[in-house]
Amino acid sequence: MRKKIVIGNWKMNMTRGETKSLLTIVKESVKDNTVDVAFAVPFTDIETARDVLEDTNIIVGAQNVHTEPRGAYTGEISVEMLKDLGVDCCIVGHSERRKYFGETDEIVNKKAKVLIEANIIPVICVGETLDEREQGIHLDLIRTQVKKALADIESTRAEEVIIAYEPLWAIGTGVTASSEQAEEVCSFIRYIVAEVYGVSISENVRILYVGSVNENNAKELFAMENIDGALVGGASLKPTFIEIINAAKE
Ligand code: PGA
Repeated sequence: MRKKIVIGNWKMNMTRGETKSLLTIVKESVKDNTVDVAFAVPFTDIETARDVLEDTNIIVGAQNVHTEPRGAYTGEISVEMLKDLGVDCCIVGHSERRKYFGETDEIVNKKAKVLIEANIIPVICVGETLDEREQGIHLDLIRTQVKKALADIESTRAEEVIIAYEPLWAIGTGVTASSEQAEEVCSFIRYIVAEVYGVSISENVRILYVGSVNENNAKELFAMENIDGALVGGASLKPTFIEIINAAKE
């Protein structure tokens, strides 16, 4: 039985003051442990988030990491620095990183590996554009993205990985994939994971849906067999994010 996880992706939003206010509200409502909850916050908010959430089970995550352990990489953050701050999960390969920062499948794979090595959960994002879906090549593309991201990750560590399906046409657009469309691809991703690691490991890997999840559509998405939660952007910046967490409990 996979435990659901709801991860807020704050992107480039929230000052430390805003972080403190929102997380103080959210933590009061997230007392039980039936769903995992995480916030992938900007680097500058990590320490504040850790302080506010210290007495809770809510996980603090990052949105990016560099592949190298240290050195002359101006502006970058290493896995050791994340570890030092108490980060327990990190997004890799988000479509915005792929699009604006040239993150390739190879880079995604390297990042996933350095994170696993440091016992930080990689949340690996994969997904297609509208054009790719209309051309009917989205499943092939997702197969390639998933396989390349998982390359050389040992089967003993595979269950720690979270894979997040983000149809790019549903990111920040207000358009959500229908729960059937989301389920179709999430179950396909599980099938790919089974091709790589076998069925029993694939049954334990958490696969999330990403794209305009909100308090109104979350319940239906979470009811799908192969959707184990969500990575939530815009709707994680408000106290109503609590309703999305609650939707994962039922
Ligand atoms: P959205 O963003 O929920 O605002 O669509 C999700 C994401 O890109 O992580």
